Amino acid sequence: MRHYNQLVSLVSFSSLFMLISSIAVLLIVVSGIIFMLTSENSYGISLSSSSLTLKPAGSVPTSSSSINKVDKIVPSDSSTTNSSSSPVLLLHGHSNLLLKSKGLDQVFKSSRSVKTKRISKQERIEADLARARASIREAAARSRNLTSTLPDSDYIPRGPIYRNPQAFHRSYLEMEKVFKIFVYEEGEPPMFHSGICKSIYSTEGLFIHEMEKKNPYRTKDPNKAHVYFLPFSVVMMVEYLYVPGSHEINPIGRTVIDYISVISSKYPYWNQSLGADHFMLSCHDWGPRTSAFVPQLFNNGIRVLCNANTSEGFNPSKDASFPEIHLRTGEITGLIGGHSPSRRPIVAFFAGRLHGQIRSLLLEQWKDKDREVQVYDQLPDGVSYSEMLKKSRFCLCPSGYEVASPRIVEAIYAECVPVLISDHYIPPFSDVLNWKSFSVQIPVRDIPNIKTILMGISQRQYIRMQRRVKQVQRHFVVNAPPKRFDVFHMIIHSIWLRRLNIRIHEL
Ligand SMILES: *[C@@H]1O[C@H](CO)[C@@H](O)[C@H](O)[C@H]1NC(C)=O
Ligand SMILES: *[C@@H]1O[C@H](CO)[C@@H](O)[C@H](O)[C@H]1NC(C)=O
Ligand SMILES: *[C@@H]1O[C@H](CO)[C@@H](O)[C@H](O)[C@H]1NC(C)=O
Ligand SMILES: *[C@@H]1O[C@H](CO)[C@@H](O)[C@H](O)[C@H]1NC(C)=O
Repeated sequence: MRHYNQLVSLVSFSSLFMLISSIAVLLIVVSGIIFMLTSENSYGISLSSSSLTLKPAGSVPTSSSSINKVDKIVPSDSSTTNSSSSPVLLLHGHSNLLLKSKGLDQVFKSSRSVKTKRISKQERIEADLARARASIREAAARSRNLTSTLPDSDYIPRGPIYRNPQAFHRSYLEMEKVFKIFVYEEGEPPMFHSGICKSIYSTEGLFIHEMEKKNPYRTKDPNKAHVYFLPFSVVMMVEYLYVPGSHEINPIGRTVIDYISVISSKYPYWNQSLGADHFMLSCHDWGPRTSAFVPQLFNNGIRVLCNANTSEGFNPSKDASFPEIHLRTGEITGLIGGHSPSRRPIVAFFAGRLHGQIRSLLLEQWKDKDREVQVYDQLPDGVSYSEMLKKSRFCLCPSGYEVASPRIVEAIYAECVPVLISDHYIPPFSDVLNWKSFSVQIPVRDIPNIKTILMGISQRQYIRMQRRVKQVQRHFVVNAPPKRFDVFHMIIHSIWLRRLNIRIHEL
């Protein structure tokens, strides 16, 4: 907690430069757009830096003391940076001027060195991002309104489900306008470029397949990309490389090490940013452990993970929480919708096998104990699980062996107010969504008080929360093909925000 708070307060002075330098690379971490769309205490997390076991030399500093140290390092191009108020907000120094000035453009063209061209590419990319940042900042500052005032023919973000509807909307529109992703072509299916779209891990497969297709964000030109996708599937690697019962994850780790080594020797992009503009994603419990085989991926890369456990090194300012969606058939038909609040007789509902410590506490405390808080390890014959979700007021979503629970999205689909029972979990899209407005979060130690806590929520407040659950549903819906503001676009938006938070350029 302490480290995180210090980080936030430093950031709020808008003067934090985190500097990661290798021989040819300077990477400045910008004081985040993420923190802007967020409020300080919203995550309620404790970032224990001691759990970040893999810290190679030259990696992103994680403790506040190292941040203080790098803060004093003056970037070599400081002469071009206006440090008086909010340096991170400026379009990168003269880059904007360079791009606009014909004369200098010609200088670039006449000096044919590869290096100059690369700088120009990087500057162009960063100038795009800087413009987007400035525009989002401006939208955020202007709005004290709960409704976005930006035009949109599909959907206008409004209401307390958002931290800042206007900032989110602007950011979303900027993403649509600007954001480009390059997918490395190296690697063969099934472990690369492929995934499973049914099962509890469906979002991993769905996202990989979607990125393989033509889509508005994908670019075939790596020089136009803002981020680079590492298209491996941890679920598939487990399927093909893991010997059941062996507890041996090394073959999976070696595959990832090899992959990074191939793309970092074949292309300049990884070395340029030390991985900070690259992303991986995984819904498998082993996503975090797999990423740890490449320290730069773990420490610098954008990791989109279902297992968003801050005690396992999940870092919400650079990693993104990935929703876990259990698609038994690969389809969402039949999952969406539930009864109105007046036709929800059960106060709270959970059914699931004993999976880890938190569930065992829940079952121990509540199974067969209470008619209003219905907790089952196995539902009685003839009772439909999805019907139970539709007629309960609150749906309990405890962590299992890992922090994420597919029940959160199940509850949102069934228009049941989710009750997150977890420690160290960052829910998806928390950089833009205000989870407190449509869910209840109960720390594990309060499991005995579940009923008191839920009964303490007034009928009026409940009706408001339930309405907001319906409103937020669109951000979790899987569409084929994807539709604006749905889960696919929201995941891309999470990655977009994290890319906006950093700035990469060459020395
Ligand atoms: C730096 O920014 C401040 C505040 O925005 C402005 O007043 C000042 O003129 C700028 N200085 C330079 C050198 O651009
Ligand atoms: C908030 O937005 C609504 C709808 O666009 C508008 O009518 C109202 O004037 C705005 N209020 C403020 C304080 O900007
Ligand atoms: C990136 O760095 C690695 C390790 O330092 C090196 O082996 C590789 O050749 C570099 N890649 C490029 C494209 O220069
Ligand atoms: C989160 O990570 C910590 C540290 O590895 C672990 O002890 C804890 O069990 C994890 N939480 C869950 C629910 O898996």
